[in-house]
Amino acid sequence: MQLRTFQMLLQSHRMLRLRTAARNNYSQVQAITSSWLQDKGSDGDSDSDIENRNDVSGQEGVAVAVGVGECKSIQLRLYASTWLICITTASQLWLARLLQRPGRPVDKMERWRNKVAVVSGASAGIGAACARALVGAGLLVVGLARRQERIEEMRAKLPPAEQRRLHARRCDITRESEVLAAFDWAQRELGGVHVLVNNAGIIATTELSGPGNTQAIRDTIETNLMGSVYCIREAFQAMRRQEQQQPEQARGEGHVIIVNSVAGQQVPNLGPQLPSLNIYPATKFALRAMQEIYRQEFQRHQTRVRVSTISPGIVDTDILPEQIQGVIKPHMPMLRSEDVADAVLWTISTPANVQVQNITIKPQGEKF
Ligand SMILES: NC(=O)c1ccc[n+]([C@@H]2O[C@H](COP(=O)([O-])OP(=O)(O)OC[C@H]3O[C@@H](n4cnc5c(N)ncnc54)[C@H](OP(=O)(O)O)[C@@H]3O)[C@@H](O)[C@H]2O)c1
Repeated sequence: MQLRTFQMLLQSHRMLRLRTAARNNYSQVQAITSSWLQDKGSDGDSDSDIENRNDVSGQEGVAVAVGVGECKSIQLRLYASTWLICITTASQLWLARLLQRPGRPVDKMERWRNKVAVVSGASAGIGAACARALVGAGLLVVGLARRQERIEEMRAKLPPAEQRRLHARRCDITRESEVLAAFDWAQRELGGVHVLVNNAGIIATTELSGPGNTQAIRDTIETNLMGSVYCIREAFQAMRRQEQQQPEQARGEGHVIIVNSVAGQQVPNLGPQLPSLNIYPATKFALRAMQEIYRQEFQRHQTRVRVSTISPGIVDTDILPEQIQGVIKPHMPMLRSEDVADAVLWTISTPANVQVQNITIKPQGEKF
């Protein structure tokens, strides 16, 4: 469209020059006409070119008349194109303003485009859904899990543009050295960390008072608490470094999302038919307390890093062993992992001055 307008402008300019020259001086008409013929790909000596020149030399009046007529039609087309460009530009500006209206989370996500998010426990359930949602929103995502191959399988199913934005890293979050290596990699290869979805967590199948359960209890504490301590600390250090390297007015933001649970607010009584939640609610209560401490510490260092908690009720994932899921599923409504991922996207999409403390989401009809 722009090229066409330019060509028309050029043509119109030449017609005007031809018109003026024809009135003033016959030799100028000849010069302009032959340059025009050359532009149109003629060599100037062929029969048709000589004929054209003769036409012009012999019929100066006709040339002027044709020039004036054609000039007017070109000017008309030019006016129409200019109006068309103005209308298109105005409607694009109007649309852009409309999309930027407050209360439109999708557009508020624009500021996170090409920023880096780390998601712990991205190989299954809620973490996998968060990784997909963040990639879909235009972030670069580093998915951490012990089963790295599952993240790679998930990536293979994404559209090609999104595949390039998802990176799978093998990482057992209970091993501090592996967490440090994963965050180092994100810093080195992707330039930092802007969002952490601290999601990885487990529930052991044991009773708190049962015999020989030390390892199961320890594993839960190591994963849900110590894994979170390592990941959140490394993410915050990366976010803080980024802030310190930027001038005051250009400072970006950071956001830590902790995937907690309704079991971190109140211990659910699942009754004698269902297994004990053992140490799991204690780890989630601890995470709730930790979130407030993180909030205070992030403030103490005058950073723009926010920390929020998402506390879902029961979600349809593989966190519970298959036999227990078989008992629960027919009787209890469940959230989908994507419902939790939606809450994560909404939380980071809120303006930088909004500190979302906690979002609790339950499946409609949940009993406890
Ligand atoms: N499902 C629910 O009803 C529900 C409700 C409220 C809150 N939550 C919370 O949501 C979070 C995710 O649970 P989910 O339901 O999605 O469970 P899930 O389907 O079992 O997924 C758990 C994820 O955590 C990862 N993970 C576990 N241990 C890890 C470790 N040591 N190192 C690295 N990654 C580890 C797993 O990856 P690998 O095994 O490949 O390492 C997996 O990707 C948990 O914090 C859970 O407490 C769940």
